[in-house]
Amino acid sequence: MENHNDKTKVLFICLGNICRSPAAEGIFKKYVSDAGLNDQFEIDSAGMISNHEGNKADRRMRTYAEERGYILESLSRPFDKDVDFDHFDYIIAMDGSNLSDLKSRARGEADIAKLHRMTDYCIGFDYDTVPDPYYGGAEGFELVLDILEDTCKGLLDKIK
Ligand code: 4NP
Repeated sequence: MENHNDKTKVLFICLGNICRSPAAEGIFKKYVSDAGLNDQFEIDSAGMISNHEGNKADRRMRTYAEERGYILESLSRPFDKDVDFDHFDYIIAMDGSNLSDLKSRARGEADIAKLHRMTDYCIGFDYDTVPDPYYGGAEGFELVLDILEDTCKGLLDKIK
């Protein structure tokens, strides 16, 4: 069905949807809210695997994010190509592996045109991936948050 809703719809993607993409979702939601733009955006996140479906974000990520003022409330869900490619305007992958998985599920050029890398929106940093923090220590989570704060600012500037 045609969508008459003119909100900009943004979907953040990582592997498990418990570390990087829920953090991106929480940070971007806060920036949008702080800018008074809540009514202009729909913001969600999803994972390429369903292993953590229904779970809150990883406790470590929730803790480090909360220390910076972001409350991560989303529950993990897998990416659904038949719904998400139609619904969202920007589908933003955290790393090259997520991006190639998304490309392999695309149904055509219109789907591919919606795909982006999170690091395309870097403004103060120069990274080409948001590294998976799952098997590492605190520094990995802090680095993810540093990159996501930078790229979420860049993304909001770009869309505004
Ligand atoms: P995320 O981190 O993709 O940033 O949510 C991971 C979470 C879970 C797994 C890998 C990465 N895992 O293998 O279960």
